[in-house]
Amino acid sequence: MHLTREEERLLDSDNPAVRKAMELLVQLGDIYGAEEMVEIGSAQASGISYKSIGDPGVQFLEGFAEEGATTSVPTYANPAGMDIERWREMGVDEAFARKQERILDALREMDVVTATTCTPYLAGNLPRQGEHVAWAESSAVSFANSVLGAKTNREGGPSALSAAITGRTPKHGLHLDENRVPTHVVEVEASLDSMSDFAALGSWTGRIVEDGKPYFVGVDAAGTDDLKGLGAAMAASGAVALHFTEGVTVDEGDYDLAGLERLTFDEAAKDEEYEELTTGADPDLIVFGCPHTSIEEIQEIARIVEGERLGPDMWVLTSAAVKSSADRMGYTETIEDAGGMLLTDTCHVVSPLEELGYEVTATNSAKAANYLPGFCEQTVVFENTRDLLEEAIEA
Ligand code: F3S
Repeated sequence: MHLTREEERLLDSDNPAVRKAMELLVQLGDIYGAEEMVEIGSAQASGISYKSIGDPGVQFLEGFAEEGATTSVPTYANPAGMDIERWREMGVDEAFARKQERILDALREMDVVTATTCTPYLAGNLPRQGEHVAWAESSAVSFANSVLGAKTNREGGPSALSAAITGRTPKHGLHLDENRVPTHVVEVEASLDSMSDFAALGSWTGRIVEDGKPYFVGVDAAGTDDLKGLGAAMAASGAVALHFTEGVTVDEGDYDLAGLERLTFDEAAKDEEYEELTTGADPDLIVFGCPHTSIEEIQEIARIVEGERLGPDMWVLTSAAVKSSADRMGYTETIEDAGGMLLTDTCHVVSPLEELGYEVTATNSAKAANYLPGFCEQTVVFENTRDLLEEAIEA
């Protein structure tokens, strides 16, 4: 791989953390056949929950910070294993919390912004069209590539951190325009009336196209939250990192679709996907915010539960940035008066949910529905927001 003089200097740095980061990126570049590095505008680090990385991860991050690792571009972190302030109310035990705090301290020492969220684009890290970034969270990668028009591969935890430190990443995969083209056409005949309908479409598509790049036709309109849910689901049931929606994210005629495999998502496929993702009944927990909720989603939840009382527990997951708006608007109070919790910094998958006594979790997210059984030992109810809440409101 060709390295610039600056990159040679980084590879030869007196700072061991910089040297290690650059060595890792060069190795990855060689593995993927990259000819050069590309400078990035931001990074997003994953693998920062104590549940995910355990003691070896704590030691790695603390060691890296001690060696002098510091980010050189704006870098946000993915969700942690707990709400940084309200972990006791979640039921997280003290030993877990202390380890998680050590991870967050190490990240802060490296100048990683510990506004830990999977929607950094709703919390202050918004790449521009065409900008190269090195993000790790699969749903955020999908959103950055597909909706924002930024360019990123799905980084692993160490490679995203190395990119954050050096300010560059190997130029391969989705950093190259020739790889940013559709592989399948998905004709959408089913009505898409809620974010969970988009998520069902994503879950169905991802399972079929795996790491392909689907091009959707027949979608009349899609909001930010719909696209967030669609991309997250495709990255969970498959490994889709880039998708296209005609008339929404791309104009008709932008790509040559002749000869691509064609799929049809009709009402029957949609119904089957809801059935496929629903494995339980009578939830003891409802989770919204996979990916982390926007203020509009929180507003919708608050309006439905206002003055009501929920039977099951409810977690509404979001970033600290979005929660501060929800606090000001009174949505947090409304949701918590109904028996829910508006939690920041964390999510069901990376928190020790399975140790908190829950067995059946309801969600409007197909990504959550795909992950909850394996990562959190849950059976799942998958439904749209309104139906989930109306069923959960106590008579
Ligand atoms: Fe975010 Fe956790 Fe879902 S990281 S996308 S809320 S699994």
